[in-house]
Amino acid sequence: MGGVAMTPPAGQPDLPVVLLSHRGPLSFGRDASGRTATRGAGGLVTALTGLVTDLPDAVWVCAATSEEDAAVAAEHGGKAVEVALDPEPRLRDPDGAGAADDAPTMRLRLVEVEQRAHDDFYTVIANPLLWFLQHGMYGLALAPVLTKREHAAWTDGYVAVNRQFADAVVEEVEARGGRALVMVHDYHFYLVGREIRERCPGALLSFFLHIPWPGPDAWRVLPPAWRERLLTGLLGNDVVAFHTEGFARNFLLSAQELLGLPVDLEAMTVRVGDRVVAARHYPISIDVASLRALAGSAEVAEHAGELREAFCDGDRQLVLRVDRTDPSKNIVRGFQAFATMLEDHPELAGKVSFLALLQPSRQDVPEYADYLAEIGAIVARVNAAHGAEGYQPIDLRLSGDFVLAVAAYTVSDVLMVNALADGMNLVAKEAVVVNRRDSVLALSENTGAHQELGAFAVTLYPFDIQQQADALYESLTMDRGLRRARREAAAKVVEENDIAKWLNAQLTDLGVRPPGAA
Ligand code: F6P
Repeated sequence: MGGVAMTPPAGQPDLPVVLLSHRGPLSFGRDASGRTATRGAGGLVTALTGLVTDLPDAVWVCAATSEEDAAVAAEHGGKAVEVALDPEPRLRDPDGAGAADDAPTMRLRLVEVEQRAHDDFYTVIANPLLWFLQHGMYGLALAPVLTKREHAAWTDGYVAVNRQFADAVVEEVEARGGRALVMVHDYHFYLVGREIRERCPGALLSFFLHIPWPGPDAWRVLPPAWRERLLTGLLGNDVVAFHTEGFARNFLLSAQELLGLPVDLEAMTVRVGDRVVAARHYPISIDVASLRALAGSAEVAEHAGELREAFCDGDRQLVLRVDRTDPSKNIVRGFQAFATMLEDHPELAGKVSFLALLQPSRQDVPEYADYLAEIGAIVARVNAAHGAEGYQPIDLRLSGDFVLAVAAYTVSDVLMVNALADGMNLVAKEAVVVNRRDSVLALSENTGAHQELGAFAVTLYPFDIQQQADALYESLTMDRGLRRARREAAAKVVEENDIAKWLNAQLTDLGVRPPGAA
């Protein structure tokens, strides 16, 4: 860890791992055939699944997000269960179904949170308040407003739920003799580190944030008691890690300005009493080999054939976006920019289509439900204004179908990522490694991915609709050779910095042996 003295010291290669994230690697459901299990999607789940499966005595603690998750947890007295993910995700009951198969398994502890507390935690504090604050989404004139409702949600939701998860983690650490590497993920669990440090002084604590960390002033939106608690909670960890160096620096500056702690911006550390906490950055990535294997599958080929026929035959071109319907993704301005481009370049009407594969997200949060309605409205307006017989400019599909998304990556000419702010953005990384049409990456400067891929992208300034329209035009008319060279260079960067590197760098810095290492 570059000479950083951590308490307790790193360098214990065989420490058992206890992982905590809000969403887990699989979720149970029920259909006519009985209990079902669905594998979680996304880079975090892929990366950490390997860790928990490959390391002996590892456990993943996460929220029971469905009724069936809660039923599984209750059947096992709230203790960890054994699950297998391949070839199909399933519960491994030691005395019953699946007992005989020898597929790799992992231990999963599903924590059931009382509904009201979970709503307060998730739909009032974590999303929207923390998410909006950290993505710079508040105008401040009218929002946010912190009333009795938010104050109650802070205490009875965020603080209480953090304590409940800390209890579960502490039990798992104690079951391992008090020695473990605890890896806590994301903004849902800022308070957990300090609780665990107080109760398990022998644990090594690492926290990873998947979203931006803004500078100190942004945090002044929160009452002093809240922001101080968030920071001191995080400073209970030995390492607090981010996707970019800028976010890590903002974190140290927040500790300096809001808590008055001494920081060292060269060593990237902050002193907390007699302890030193390190701020680090590790850009998350994707599993390139498995994504390419999926891109080569018959299923993807079938979808790709349909998409090519619908959007790309002759000299027609396709602009693509793949996102959750999150206001931070800036979807509405993206469609406005596309419409502006069609106005400025009427010769493109009928020749360029925009396919938007959007997965509805967090619909129990009012801001997200409103945003989805806005998306529907702008698509209707653009299609009415610019559509013609046989030409619908925007094809909006509300879908979380990853196979379809990968097929679309392979056939698109431009991938638009115009997020207001994004910790990393894995869609950009996925698309450049599987695209087969020399696609141009049109990428927001406010994404973590821009630091690695910006040199090979057309940069988007997310609030400037005219600039985005011009950038889309530039992308669609770019010389073919240049398109190819840039896409290949971007793909190389992702290949060399894949998900294994992200995980192994963290474990190596912590002195813990990465999975598979001798
Ligand atoms: O980007 C942060 C994150 O927690 C991701 O890890 C995840 O893909 C996304 O947000 C989804 O959030 P939720 O679990 O609320 O659907």
